Amino acid sequence: MTPYEILNHEFDSQIESVKSADEVILYGKTEIATIFLRALPSLGVKAPILVFDNGDFVNGQSSSLTLKCVVILCGKRKYTRECMMVSCNEYFNGCEILGWHTLYFGYITSVIRRRCDYRLLAETILKMPDEQNTIESLCCILTTKCTLSCVDCDMGCVFVKKPADEPVDLFNKRLNKITAFKPVSIIVLQGGEVLLHKQFPQIIYDCAKNPGIGVITIATNGTLIPSDEVCLAAKASGVMFRISDYGELSVNYERLVERLNEYDIPWEWYPRAEVWFTQGEMFLHGRDEKTNRECAARCFFNGNTVFFDGKVVPCDRTCTALIMGKNVYSNAVDVDNDFKKIDIDSVNNRENLWQMCDYCDYPMTIVEPAMQLIK
Ligand SMILES: C[S@@+](CC[C@H](N)C(=O)[O-])C[C@H]1O[C@@H](n2cnc3c(N)ncnc32)[C@H](O)[C@@H]1O
Ligand code: SF4
Ligand code: SF4
Repeated sequence: MTPYEILNHEFDSQIESVKSADEVILYGKTEIATIFLRALPSLGVKAPILVFDNGDFVNGQSSSLTLKCVVILCGKRKYTRECMMVSCNEYFNGCEILGWHTLYFGYITSVIRRRCDYRLLAETILKMPDEQNTIESLCCILTTKCTLSCVDCDMGCVFVKKPADEPVDLFNKRLNKITAFKPVSIIVLQGGEVLLHKQFPQIIYDCAKNPGIGVITIATNGTLIPSDEVCLAAKASGVMFRISDYGELSVNYERLVERLNEYDIPWEWYPRAEVWFTQGEMFLHGRDEKTNRECAARCFFNGNTVFFDGKVVPCDRTCTALIMGKNVYSNAVDVDNDFKKIDIDSVNNRENLWQMCDYCDYPMTIVEPAMQLIK
């Protein structure tokens, strides 16, 4: 069977099972759960959908557990889902347990009807359960313009002398070069503030067309309301929004949420006000490799591969270092020049990231929420 046939076949039996359940439990309060809260009803699931996280149901929900339950593991990483599976067997003994990838494929192809080659998309989705096969999360900085100036913004946009949008065609050409080597599980379209990008709807449509991309997320800071064009593009492409919570600075949060609800677009609130790190001044601290590797392993920012101005780098701070003209050792792939899959793998596997960690304070300081942001 081809990947497309495998997924269609699995989807038919999984959705049958989910539809006949008395309760559906989304295990893990992740962005995948956010998508499924909207996706499942549109797939014809009538049963109550509960979210279970950290040993409890969220928002005071409770389950009868005597009924037929189906659990969907919403962890993004393989290891997370394996751990979930163990605890799931304790909490929901006897319930059917499913992964999310097949159901997601069914949703994107039968409800959203994303405009892309479904046979190639099926190949991407089948690779996604093991993050070694993909770029797990690719944060794309599409504009360096922003409506806020957060102290210690990790992207280094403040160091860009002339904030600008990345041209759409150039971004597309560069992104296609990356996905030709390695598919992307979750692409995060962001800035700066990405809603300021003049041709943002086109970027959303272009990403949706690329079958080497699984999930599409837009990260925004809650200061702007997306235009109808952006909402239509997001809806047609199965995109979800992640809204950073900057307290009073996210001035348009309510109207933004209203607009997204109007278009039935999934969104999640990303609490940022309490967890804000400062990496310190950028200079080499002279720590040994072992300590710097330990620093990388514990770092909040380690996990996002960043794509900025044609360069792929292994973390946000490396992007800042690049913008500041620091030595990034072999932690950047320039997709405008010749590169091989092995180069992308090296950055994606964070083989040399420890060298960059020497630029950061270790341990990092968590800044008081009140001191985080300036206007
Ligand atoms: C650079 S922002 C771009 C998207 C958008 N402007 C926003 O702020 O949500 C991407 C994410 O990085 C987070 N971030 C940036 N600097 C950070 C820091 N120093 N500590 C913790 N999170 C940070 C932001 O909260 C946001 O969720
Ligand atoms: S809103 Fe986002 S991109 Fe803009 S300065 Fe703050 S963290 Fe950086
Ligand atoms: S360079 Fe290392 S310590 Fe600094 S932000 Fe990146 S992963 Fe974290």
